[in-house]
Amino acid sequence: MDVNIKIPNHLGIIVDGNGRWASNRGLSRSEGHKAGAKRLKEIIKYTFSKGVRVLSIYVFSTENFKRSDEEVNYLMELFVHHFKSEFSKLKDENVKIVFSGRREPLPDKVLKIMDKLTEDTKNNDENILNICMNYGGHAEIIDATKKISNEVLNMLISIDSINEETFSKYLYNELPPLDFVIRTSGEVRLSNFMLWQLSYSELYFPEIYFPDFDKKAFDEALIEYNNRNRRFGGIKYENKNH
Ligand code: IPE
Ligand code: IPE
Ligand code: MG
Repeated sequence: MDVNIKIPNHLGIIVDGNGRWASNRGLSRSEGHKAGAKRLKEIIKYTFSKGVRVLSIYVFSTENFKRSDEEVNYLMELFVHHFKSEFSKLKDENVKIVFSGRREPLPDKVLKIMDKLTEDTKNNDENILNICMNYGGHAEIIDATKKISNEVLNMLISIDSINEETFSKYLYNELPPLDFVIRTSGEVRLSNFMLWQLSYSELYFPEIYFPDFDKKAFDEALIEYNNRNRRFGGIKYENKNH
């Protein structure tokens, strides 16, 4: 690949299509999630090896609790398993793991391993992996508004000091803006993903189910990103690496 290729500083991936991938093969939805989790492990490594500094992955939305108990329970077990076995290895690869989302009503066993990963990787500083877990973009903005309102009520900050920059500090994590968002499966919607952070990001919706989203598909996504002309409301914008 071209050495001068532009790499997004903050990439978002909406992991989608596990269920359809499985049903096309006559498998259960659980099999699809299992295949998706395996692919995710490979793609996280590949993303960082390409020079992306921050990766946000959307793996479970606040709305996903509407699914059957069987599917939700399977997903929770899968998270615990992968967080313990695969994600813990990122500690030695200088990746800081953070979580975005509401804690309630995640089961204790999931919260416990999430807290451990956060604690174990808090001093890592090369890459950030932001895992959106029981996450909703509306919920994040509401939760930030509650925190900021409390500070105003307690006279810790003034209303006049609230602006885009200060508001960002009350979100689940302080992260740079999203440069590029990939949603697999062919659905052309954002489903409540990082609404604050993606205001100017480039969006890409490849027609591929996540378990099939391999390195080649990732490279194609990067080429697509390189074909975009980001202007941020201006007339001309010279895109640079990072
Ligand atoms: C994405 O795959 C995984 C999660 C949302 C947890 P889906 O489960 O949404 O798969 P489809 O969209 O039904 O194919
Ligand atoms: C979005 O996928 C949420 C995650 C990827 C975690 P969904 O499959 O839940 O989204 P909809 O229901 O198709 O909008
Ligand atoms: Mg889906």
